[in-house]
Amino acid sequence: MQYRSLVLALAVGTVAFAQTPKARIKIDTDRVVGEVHPNLFGNFAEHLGRCIYGGLYEEGSPLSDSDGYRKDVMEAVKGLGVSVLRWPGGNFASGYNWKDGIGPKDQRPVRVDQAWGDLEPNRFGTDEFLRYTEKLGLTPYLCINAGLGSVEDARQWVEYTNETRHTYWADQRRKNGREAPYNVKIWGLGNEIDGPWQLGHKNAEDYTKFALEAAKAMRRADESIKLIASGSSNFGPNADWIAWNRTVLEKLRDEIDYISLHTYIGNQENDFERFLSAGADLDHRIEVVAGLIKAAQSGRPHQHPIYIAYDEWNVWYRARSNGSEFATGKTRLEEIYNYEDALAMGMFFNSFFRHADVVKMANLAQIVNVIAPIFTNKTGLFLQPIYFPIAEYGKQRGNLALDALVTSPKIKPAGVATPLNALDVSVTYNADKREIFVNVLNRSKSDDVATSIDNVEGKLDGTVTIWQMNSSDFKAAHTFGDDKKVTPKVQVLKVNSGDTHTFGYSFPAHSLTILKLRVRE
Ligand code: AHR
Repeated sequence: MQYRSLVLALAVGTVAFAQTPKARIKIDTDRVVGEVHPNLFGNFAEHLGRCIYGGLYEEGSPLSDSDGYRKDVMEAVKGLGVSVLRWPGGNFASGYNWKDGIGPKDQRPVRVDQAWGDLEPNRFGTDEFLRYTEKLGLTPYLCINAGLGSVEDARQWVEYTNETRHTYWADQRRKNGREAPYNVKIWGLGNEIDGPWQLGHKNAEDYTKFALEAAKAMRRADESIKLIASGSSNFGPNADWIAWNRTVLEKLRDEIDYISLHTYIGNQENDFERFLSAGADLDHRIEVVAGLIKAAQSGRPHQHPIYIAYDEWNVWYRARSNGSEFATGKTRLEEIYNYEDALAMGMFFNSFFRHADVVKMANLAQIVNVIAPIFTNKTGLFLQPIYFPIAEYGKQRGNLALDALVTSPKIKPAGVATPLNALDVSVTYNADKREIFVNVLNRSKSDDVATSIDNVEGKLDGTVTIWQMNSSDFKAAHTFGDDKKVTPKVQVLKVNSGDTHTFGYSFPAHSLTILKLRVRE
């Protein structure tokens, strides 16, 4: 499959920008927020619907390799630029016994998955997951069962994957065909334990007691692992999400390296500008938790850093659990994404980049079929519109996120309390290549925004590469055999003579643009 060919041909032209700017993006490469960590381009695979079985794993399919992994899906995952992969859930994790998923496949038990109600054949387990990540060069991230599971189960799982000596669980791993440890470094201390829907839901006190013991035990099996506490997923009117995070941070601060956050957004009101205003909530949630981290660490100079792992995020509102997908049994949460959803991907990444000092991991939920950018059937796959911005933003991994000054016309959608900038912006800098990336979502439904882009340190090369998604059909989506209509276009334009610090560009209404500029001196 030619993913690159989907990014359209190069054109060379000159920007005719004679309008008076209504917005300004002022860039200073000295104003660094933090590194755009590669783990911001993480993803998530849950035992749910057709994500594992019929998604990334399909034994006996002509499209699969001899281990049962779908080769076309692996190619698409590579094209997406996934860095770290979370598994096995999600809600599924809170009822999962990892010991069911090891050993000879035909002897593994079939269980009822209590989280989603499906039958779990356990043919894809720890070894199959970790071999998959090795094949693709992904960093594995395992989430323990902090719902119905036990501290000892969690410790034994670390022993199975990471122990080098001849212990019972390391020898079980060897018996299952794997001599060398897998060295799994990233472990989640449970999933969404703050949510009443979660198997084994707990209050913050009970959760932190469990998580503290689990952390101690897991570190006894391998002291080098990094741990992620279950932060907020429940932002509902009856949930005190700030109190949950405060307690988690106060009680677990000596043990954890990250606190997780989850956010799904939707366009239930069918209001384009309101939908794309959700970035303000993301900023708010990140900034509040960053403050709680600071408060928990206050007066403790030797405290190791704690970061935010946004380890579930996406658009998800059509294929909900009360929707028709439950009637079809095996197909669950199969969202068909459209153009406006693709724009929302830019909004999420802009928020993560603006907070690159504290957000050091993010995992799109999920990877294939289930609320996912890759959609399969038995004979092939198509890429959903959300695939393209994720892959493109991923090229900025390792860059320095910059604190750009943005002035912009405002939008004030119904139901949003404060007017917001029409231009939602993040900026990153690759110091080695002297390249600046300006990521701009114009969330105005109707207005182009003429913008002055000013770079303080160094003159700009006379050309700019423009990656852009723009469609007047907000609901345009893909399907099998018709998967090219919502794709990006790339142009290279001459913007100035090459001896100035500034140029003008008009961001089209309802578009997502990434400008790549080069600094000359
Ligand atoms: O990603 C789908 C579900 O959303 C996950 O299982 C759960 O963690 C969240 O509520």
